Amino acid sequence: MDYKKYIDSVMDFPTKGINFRDITSLLQVGPVYRAAIDEMAEFARSKNAEVVVGPEARGFVIGGPLAYSLGVGFVPVRKPGKLPREVVTVSYEKEYGVDELCIHKDSIKPGQRVLVTDDLLATGGTIDATIRLVKSLGGIVVGVAFLIELKELDGEKLLKDYDVFSLIDY
Ligand code: PRP
Ligand code: ADE
Repeated sequence: MDYKKYIDSVMDFPTKGINFRDITSLLQVGPVYRAAIDEMAEFARSKNAEVVVGPEARGFVIGGPLAYSLGVGFVPVRKPGKLPREVVTVSYEKEYGVDELCIHKDSIKPGQRVLVTDDLLATGGTIDATIRLVKSLGGIVVGVAFLIELKELDGEKLLKDYDVFSLIDY
């Protein structure tokens, strides 16, 4: 499947100099969305993942269907103030300044095999924070899966200890 045909590239969005890889043009074509999830699920299945974890917002669009396909649970990672029960919080570096992500404290059992996923790997800050949250709860990260990896940003250097799958590389 030529997935790149379905990814729109938008120059200077959201700020000047960024070549934004827009997944919405892929998501809106049902058979292509399904094929992409199926391929990611094959990787996740090979890792015997017991739960899928993904950060808001685009990580939900990938992680939800992935978990459904595997027949396992989905755990959301969210910005502060969004999850109603007790959370663990980590800070991470963004292009400008610092942000935080949270996970429900009781969402992962120690020793549980976790597949971490997101739509896109850029600098790796978001996925690194997500992995730190999973590990703080005692989860074992058995794989990390992306729809898109922006190779030139070298986010994979933060993921050298993990088995990484990406469907589309730029
Ligand atoms: C985007 C994308 C990833 C992250 C990748 O999310 O969905 O989560 O950036 O960048 P990084 O590897 O440099 O961390 P964004 O923060 O724009 O939020 P959204 O999913 O809510 O649009
Ligand atoms: N998130 C971070 N960098 C991005 C890019 N270039 N395109 C889409 N989403 C992104």
